[in-house]
Amino acid sequence: MTRVAILISGSGSNMVRLVEALRVPDSPAVPALVLSNVPGVAGLVKAAALGVPATTVDHRRFAKDRAAFEAAVDRALRESHADLLCLAGFMRILTAGFVERWAGRILNIHPSLLPKYRGLDTHARVLAAGDPEHGCTVHLVTPELDDGPILGQAKLTVRVEDTPETLAARVQALEHRLYPTVLARYLAGEKAPLLLC
Ligand code: GRF
Repeated sequence: MTRVAILISGSGSNMVRLVEALRVPDSPAVPALVLSNVPGVAGLVKAAALGVPATTVDHRRFAKDRAAFEAAVDRALRESHADLLCLAGFMRILTAGFVERWAGRILNIHPSLLPKYRGLDTHARVLAAGDPEHGCTVHLVTPELDDGPILGQAKLTVRVEDTPETLAARVQALEHRLYPTVLARYLAGEKAPLLLC
């Protein structure tokens, strides 16, 4: 049984979809832990309501000592006996050292059609560029930011009336379909990229 830890920083709506996907009959995996780097976020309340163990490692307590923060995260993950990590709106950059310790075992969801628009403010950047399409990507995490082999993408057509806010909502609805689907495929050993339209 694969034990999946889900790392969040906020509302945790993707986390809820992942937990639900892991709890289907005959699932090969279970949710082991929800870890937030921000205390008191809505995602922690949702994890408690779902009965998933949840913990907080507040990055601000470590000031600029990223290695100490990551050591505390790593300790919590290992105490939960996690085998696989899903970053779901986790807004901290992980160092190469951390990523290498979990090599091939970290998935992330990013709100753009990678390799376009790594980093932040993807929706505004899509609109500024006048792109006809946008979407989200689930990929394996490598030390480069928002890089790594793509496991799945979901696309939408940008509308003339779209704003960064409407695009954020439309992309998030796609994320909620894509991430659980890709996770289930990944657990079944499928690594060929999936395209949801
Ligand atoms: C998602 O849209 C993700 O792409 C972005 O942050 C958001 C997290 O939302 N990086 P939630 O916490 O899963 O609700």
